[in-house]
Amino acid sequence: MNAYLQEIFGLQGRLAVVTGGSSGIGRAMAVALGRAGAKVLLVARREAPMAEVVAELRGYGAVGHAISADLADREAVTQVIDKIIAGYGQPDVLVNAAGVNRRPPMDELTIDDWDVTLAANLTAPFQLGQAFGPRMAERGWGRIINVVSQQAFRAYGNSGAYGAAKAGLVGLTRSQAEAWSRHGVCCNAIAPGVVHTPLTEAVFADPAKVAGHAARTMIGRNGVPEDFVACAIFLASDAAVAVTGQTLFVDGGYSAT
Ligand SMILES: NC(=O)c1ccc[n+]([C@@H]2O[C@H](COP(=O)([O-])OP(=O)(O)OC[C@H]3O[C@@H](n4cnc5c(N)ncnc54)[C@H](OP(=O)(O)O)[C@@H]3O)[C@@H](O)[C@H]2O)c1
Repeated sequence: MNAYLQEIFGLQGRLAVVTGGSSGIGRAMAVALGRAGAKVLLVARREAPMAEVVAELRGYGAVGHAISADLADREAVTQVIDKIIAGYGQPDVLVNAAGVNRRPPMDELTIDDWDVTLAANLTAPFQLGQAFGPRMAERGWGRIINVVSQQAFRAYGNSGAYGAAKAGLVGLTRSQAEAWSRHGVCCNAIAPGVVHTPLTEAVFADPAKVAGHAARTMIGRNGVPEDFVACAIFLASDAAVAVTGQTLFVDGGYSAT
């Protein structure tokens, strides 16, 4: 990176916690933040995929660590927060990319589906934000990035609990921005389109659906995890100093048609 880009986008000296950083969109963001200079701390359930990302980061000369936890479990989130602070200190950047995608038809949506979806997709980001946001504000610098969904804004394909949780996460992003922005903590959401990851294998197994979604975009294709690299670096960097409380749609124009 040349010196000018380094000055405005460089993340040297920052600690970035990335939930869901072991797969898909979160993985792309985690690797991007590491390559831009941050020390990256991954949080997800499975250790093996996290170890792969830590190794990938190492390959780029970046530093990564991992903590395994089920973010749908409130108590486990509390323990993760303690482990992060004890082992690595207070994060400068928090990316909430972990997501649960249980989407049965509305009539079949159970209270268990509701609880797990809300816990992982909304309560965990709330808990992590409450633990780290005020400390970022005290230090006068921080960034929170919440990965939301088209379904936060429109009903579509059994949105059920998932859409409700993501809509809540957009609201939480605004509340966090309102509370902490004046203390240097910018809080934003990123709304993907339809992105090929393990989460969307079922959609991508159906060529007609894939083509239909691609046709709805303005760029003529569905999303790939690499689409989220630059926006993650931007929103995590000094460059985003005046961007807060927003949802950035990284969806190839899907939501604009
Ligand atoms: N793909 C899309 O089209 C799309 C569109 C809109 C929004 N999104 C959102 O983008 C984010 C990333 O999705 P993705 O498509 O990249 O999915 P993905 O490839 O399936 O990755 C999901 C990540 O979340 C972790 N995770 C899931 N449940 C968890 C739990 N209970 N506790 C801890 N970690 C958990 C997974 O690791 P473990 O399984 O090991 O825990 C994995 O690292 C999600 O918030 C999703 O809702 C995706």
